[in-house]
Order: sequence, then structure tokens, then C-alpha cells
Amino acid sequence: MQKIAVLTSGGDSPGMNAAIRSVARTCAYHKIECVGVFRGYEGLIDGDFVPLDARSVRGIINKGGTFLKSARSKRFMTPEGRAEAYKQLMASDIDGIVLIGGDGTFTGGLVFNSEYDFPVMGIPGTIDNDINGTDRTLGYDTALNTAVEAIDKIRDTAHSHDRLFFVEVMGRDVGHIALNAGVGAGAEEILIPEEDMGIDRLVESLERSKKSGKSSSIVIVAEGDKIGKSVFELKDYVDQNLEEYDVRVSVLGHMQRGGSPTCYDRVLASRMGVKAVEALLEGQSNFMVGTTHDKMTLTPLEKAIKGESKINKELIRVSDIMTT
Ligand code: F6P
Repeated sequence: MQKIAVLTSGGDSPGMNAAIRSVARTCAYHKIECVGVFRGYEGLIDGDFVPLDARSVRGIINKGGTFLKSARSKRFMTPEGRAEAYKQLMASDIDGIVLIGGDGTFTGGLVFNSEYDFPVMGIPGTIDNDINGTDRTLGYDTALNTAVEAIDKIRDTAHSHDRLFFVEVMGRDVGHIALNAGVGAGAEEILIPEEDMGIDRLVESLERSKKSGKSSSIVIVAEGDKIGKSVFELKDYVDQNLEEYDVRVSVLGHMQRGGSPTCYDRVLASRMGVKAVEALLEGQSNFMVGTTHDKMTLTPLEKAIKGESKINKELIRVSDIMTT
């Protein structure tokens, strides 16, 4: 293997730049070439490549986003798009590719490998932490800290005005951010897609909380929560059914995907980049690098995608006890 490409695809996450830097520097360390691909699979199809040496990735370890840019490519989902991508890789003498992204990115990589037997290695980059085979995905720690910081600020104003706030955090299918940021910020209730607490239990809990003397409350709602009501509908429901509450809504949104990565994510990105390149050099393919109990691991891409990312039930209990 003489030349390795790296791309970022799907929703971006803090730490992607640090991972690109690590891939480029590990290639330089092993005296092989590295190529960056712009706009994920889109750039692969268009041959939009840039040579990356050790110095060309300076000054980016602390930067949010991804300087290679990211995209969700419809063209790569077609056999014609993948054929074009393969042609571009061959034309540039590229021998393997590191894919930084989430399950959609890995699914694309698996299909590509099955058609062209082209070596692929995944790095889990998503704030959602919804990938099997790693303790944490890249960017999750930063997103958690961003969410907690924002919720702390909302608590200040909630307290001043004796208000109830519904705060929506990201997590289309999973509640990792909601659950952990909720416990970390001392939320009254946490609504996650994995547990349908039902609107009645929420109302009961809010009534209890009012009676116990709490004047302000924060309820964290994952965007994929199963009660089936958006934060705005939840506000309307409480407005109509619990008149004693003065309710406001805050949707944290994409601010959770941006910002300078935490030290944890920078270190994780550096470790994952080294492991990904060295696994390719050892002749491995179709794996995702990750950490399990802080040791670097390789998980088959198929398992990483299909596996259920399990919510920590103990945290749900901790949250319940904390709101006594
Ligand atoms: O995949 C991460 C994620 O942030 C989800 O939590 C969220 O639902 C989604 O991306 C938003 O994606 P987009 O930026 O395409 O709207």
C-alpha cells in the first residue's frame, strides 16, 4: 500500500479535522502518500483530491467542522456513481481509503468494497454516539459539553423567571446526548427515543415537582423522542393542562455539531487515525476502529452499522433519583 485517501462524509462532528491530521501524519510517518478527498463520496466521484503531507494539516487539531467538507452523496448510492469513484481512485493510484463518518458512510464503504474489493477502513465520526464497537464516537464528547454549557445558561434565566423550559437536543434515533447532558445539567425529566414515558407521566412528574417546591425546571427532549410531540407541541400541551407553569422552548440544533473539539475528542481522533492507517497497512479491510475500555479495537463495519447502540439504563435510574 503506497497511497491512502481520507474523506469525511455525512453529518460533521468536532474532531474530524484532528482525525484527518492524524491520518495524514501517520501516512507521512510510514513514508507513504496521503490524499484528501473533498465533499465525501461526491469528491470521490469527481476526483476532487488534494495531496496531504505532514505540514499541510498543521493548525487544524483545534478546529471544528471538517476542512475537507462533508456531504450526503446521492450519486454514490448508484452503481454508476460508484463505478466513476473507482475509476478516479485507480487513475490516482490510490490503494486504500479511510472513511470518517457514521452508519451511512460505512454502508457506502461496504457496498463499494463488495463491488470492487477496494480496501476501506472506518473512523466513527458522529455526535450521536450511535455506532456499535466503540465506547465513544468522535465528536460526542464535545457535543455533550456544548449542550451542557448551553443548558446551564438556560437554567440561569429559567431560575430568574420561575419558568419551565423544554430544551431540544440532537439525536434523531438515539438519546445518548439527551440522557448524559440531562444528568450532567441536572434536568428534571429527560425524554429519549428509547423510552416512551408517555405524556401523562410527564405531566404527573411536573405536578409533583411543583408541589415539592421547585420553582423552575428543565426538561431535555431528544429530537427523536417517542412521545410524538415536538418541543413546541409539548409546550402547548403543558400550557393547556398545567396553568401554573410559565413555559418556554429552546432548540439547541446545529450549535451542537460545531466548535473546537474537547481534549478527549482530539486524543481520540489522533489514536483512531493512527490505528486506521496502520490497519490498512497490515492488509485489513472492512473494519471500523474504535475503543473498548480505552483499548483500540477493530469491529467489522457490518457489525458497527447493524448493532444496536444501547442506552445506559443505569443513567435513567440515576436521573430519576437525582430529581427526587
Ligand atoms: O447525525 C448527526 C445528526 O446531528 C443528528 O442528531 C441529526 O438528526 C442530524 O444529524 C441532522 O442532520 P442535518 O444536518 O442533515 O439536518
